[in-house]
Amino acid sequence: MQDYIRLRGGKPLVGEVALRGAKNTVPKNMVAALLSDDPVIIRDVPKIEDVAIMKRLIERMGGQIEEIRPGTLQIAAKNIKQLNQKDLEDITGRSRIPILMCGPLLKRFGRAYVPKLGGCNIGPRPVDFHVQALRHLGATYHEDRHGAHFEAKSPLKGAKITLQYPSVGATEQILLSSVLAEGQTEIHNAAVEPEILDLIALLQKMGAIISVDTDRSILIEGVKKLSGATHTGMPDRIEAASWASAAAGTNGRIFVRGARQLDMMTFLNKFRQIGGGFDITRDGITFYRQKKKLSPIMLETDVHPGFMTDWQQPFVVVLTQAQGRSVVHETVYTSRFGYVEALNAMGAKISLYEESPENIKSKFGLRNYRQSALIDGPTPLKGDDITVPDLRAGFSYIIAALIAEGESKISGFSVLQRGYEHLVAKLQSLEADIAEVKANGNFSGLS
Ligand code: EPU
Repeated sequence: MQDYIRLRGGKPLVGEVALRGAKNTVPKNMVAALLSDDPVIIRDVPKIEDVAIMKRLIERMGGQIEEIRPGTLQIAAKNIKQLNQKDLEDITGRSRIPILMCGPLLKRFGRAYVPKLGGCNIGPRPVDFHVQALRHLGATYHEDRHGAHFEAKSPLKGAKITLQYPSVGATEQILLSSVLAEGQTEIHNAAVEPEILDLIALLQKMGAIISVDTDRSILIEGVKKLSGATHTGMPDRIEAASWASAAAGTNGRIFVRGARQLDMMTFLNKFRQIGGGFDITRDGITFYRQKKKLSPIMLETDVHPGFMTDWQQPFVVVLTQAQGRSVVHETVYTSRFGYVEALNAMGAKISLYEESPENIKSKFGLRNYRQSALIDGPTPLKGDDITVPDLRAGFSYIIAALIAEGESKISGFSVLQRGYEHLVAKLQSLEADIAEVKANGNFSGLS
C-alpha cells in the first residue's frame, strides 16, 4: 500500500502560511555555487525534492554542504570532481535541474556528464534549446542510457544566441555557461521571469557582469573568476498563488507571509476580476473572497509578464465555483489539462478543445499550443479517490477536495513534496480536515 492523504471538504481554509525560497530558484542558486571556489551561502532553502537532488549531486562530486543555520546552506565547491555513471543512476529522470550544471562543469573540467531529465509529466519537455545554445558556445553533445555528455576542447566562447521561444531553462543554461566564458554573450528572445532575475542577482553578487534590456535581450560580459556570496532566493510566487486559489475556492482567508505584489501583479489582476480580494502589507498578502458570487473570466497562460502556466491549475478549480463560463487557454505546455478528467469525475463541468495551428497568432511562434478549457460553473463537487499526476495539478486536486462535500482519498501525494514544503502541516494549520495515512496504516491528523 502507498502512503495517501484523506481530506474531508466543506471547511474554509483560515490562517497563515509562510513562503520560503522558490522551488524554481533555490536549486538553481545551488548550481551557481559550482561556479566559484569560495563558499556560497543560500538562505531560506525549502525542504523539497529538487533541493535534495542537487544536494546529493554536489556531495557526490565532493562538494561540501553544511546547514549552518536551519534553512541556510553553505556550499563549498572548490574541490569538486566529475560525476560518473554510478553517481547518476538513482537521479536519472527525477529532476530538470541537473542539466543546468553544464556550464560550471564545462568550465572546470572541459566536460559535463549530467543525468537525463525528469520533472512533471505535462507534455514533451525537450532540451533542444539548451543543446543548441551550448553548441553555439563551443560544446559538443551526445547521450548514453543514463545521461547527457557535453564536451568543450577549449574554453567556452561568448556568442550571439536567439532563442526560438523564451525558455526559462535555456535562458538559465546560457547565463550559467557564459558568465565565465571568453568574451561577450547576447541572448535574444530571452525569458525574463522574476526567477531569472533572481539568478542574475546572485551571479552579480558573485562578480558577474550581466545587463537585462527591455526587449528580452540579456548581455553577459564574461569574467575570469567568480567569488562567494550570500543570497536569499525570491519567495515562491507559485506557492503564493496556490494558497490564494485555496482561499478563494474554500471561501476562506489566508495570510501568505512573504508573498510579494511585484512578482504577482498579473495574478492579482485576474484574482480581483473573478471576485477575489487581497490586502497587501510589507510582510505578505492576505487572500480571500471579496464577492460572495465569483465571476467567470477568459485568460491565457504566457511567459512573463503573462499569467504563469503554473498558476493555471489551482485557478481553474476556483473557476468551477464561478457563475458562468470561463475560458482558459494554455500556451506554454502541450498537455497541461490532463487533470480535468478527475475534476469532472468530482462534479466539475470542464471541456477541452484543440485549436488548429492556423488560429495561433502567438508572438512567440508556433511552439505554442493553444489548448482551451471551457469551465462552466458553479458546480458542486463531491469527494473522490484521486491520484496526483503532477505537481500543480496535484495542488488543484487538494483545492477541489477542500471544496467538495464528503471525503477524498488522494494518492501519489509524494509528487507534491517536489514543490510544496510541509504541505500537510500547513493544511492542518489552516484548519483543513486532513490526515496523512502511512503505508504501515498509521494515521496523523483528521478530526
Ligand atoms: N522547450 C523546448 N525546448 C527546450 C526548452 C523548452 O521546446 O529546450 C519548450 C517546453 O517544452 C515548453 C516551453 O518551451 O513547452 C517552456 O519551457 P521552459 O524551458 O520555459 O520551462 P522549464 O525551464 O523547463 C520552468 C519551471 C516550470 C515552469 C516553466 C515555465 C523549473 C524547474 N521549472 O521549466 O515549473 O512551468 O519554467 O515558467 O524552473 C513547476 O514548477 O511546476 C514547473 C513545471
